[in-house]
Amino acid sequence: MEINKIQHSKLDKVDPNNSAFGVNISDHMLICVFKDGKWGEPVIMPYGGMNYSPALMAIHYGQAIFEGMKAYKDSNDNVFLFRPEKNFERFNKSAERLAMPKITKEIFLDGLLSLIDLDRNWVPTKEGNSLYIRPTMFASEEMFSARISNEYTFAIMTSPANSYYDKPLKIKIEDYYTRAVDGGVGFTKCAGNYGASFYPTKLANEAGYDQVIWTDSKEHLYFEESGTMNVMVRIGDVLYTPPTSNTILSGITRDSLVTIAKHNKIEVKEERISVDDIFNAYKSGNLKEIFGCGTAVVINRYSHVAYRDFIMELPELDEKNSFAIFLKKQLVDLQTNKSEDPFGWRYKV
Ligand code: PLP
Ligand code: COI
Repeated sequence: MEINKIQHSKLDKVDPNNSAFGVNISDHMLICVFKDGKWGEPVIMPYGGMNYSPALMAIHYGQAIFEGMKAYKDSNDNVFLFRPEKNFERFNKSAERLAMPKITKEIFLDGLLSLIDLDRNWVPTKEGNSLYIRPTMFASEEMFSARISNEYTFAIMTSPANSYYDKPLKIKIEDYYTRAVDGGVGFTKCAGNYGASFYPTKLANEAGYDQVIWTDSKEHLYFEESGTMNVMVRIGDVLYTPPTSNTILSGITRDSLVTIAKHNKIEVKEERISVDDIFNAYKSGNLKEIFGCGTAVVINRYSHVAYRDFIMELPELDEKNSFAIFLKKQLVDLQTNKSEDPFGWRYKV
């Protein structure tokens, strides 16, 4: 792999331990171009702009997908990825659904390792911080016909990150707008899913909420997921999460938490959760916790969950009693090499 190193690192101006999410992009990026039916050689180069025109097909027709993953440093400066092959697999599922070429394991995973190794000084050491990794692929042919592009650019960029949200969230259960429909692209990480979610989220923000919980497109009664998170609900001592489907992104954090919870003898039910289930549990005092989980947010507690005019307030549980706090600690300890790795999820760089 060709590696063109930067002359002067931006690390003299950026403190990775004090960087807001996604603002400071690290020194290097990986680029690989698909043309004439095949992938070219990946190149690592200084991060910066590329020369495209507004005729770029990704902009007009939306063939654009991405992934989100993180690198963590332990107290001995070892750097680890977390289940990166899962992101690789999901990236190719997204690519297939968007009629884009699949990326090879060599370009995605070996490229990732070389890039993170080169920019390892960008991986934060402060607890709760990590290096966010953003692989992406977009149609980079320039022309106007509405058809599958013949050219694609794959890129990996990284950026030091602190916590995505710094407070518990007030959530609106969405009862009108839809994120994803059966047979659609909800299970992919395509750009359009996010673009389409911004307007309903903006309306929720204007009404005083931080995020929405998306519900099914037919009745708006069953929980799907929430913003950039999968959603988990604790009723009594049982942890519920909707089963993944073609309308829900199959979260790697979600899967990891389900596994960790079961490993720790917490009962987990991957079942549909209806608004009525939540109301009934709330009224009987059994609704203990609702939280979102994802790579960027890790685990974020919901303090208020509203359906139309009915607002459910969920008091904070302490460390001894909260599943969310327990699971977050288990997950982060595993990611940062503070605990055993019984599942073989850590991946040393
Ligand atoms: N759902 C959506 C829409 C997301 O953007 C994310 C974040 O990637 C998730 C769920 C959680 O997925 P993961 O845990 O793999 O980051
Ligand atoms: C992630 O958690 O990796 C995400 O994709 C969140 C991102 C859209 C900000």
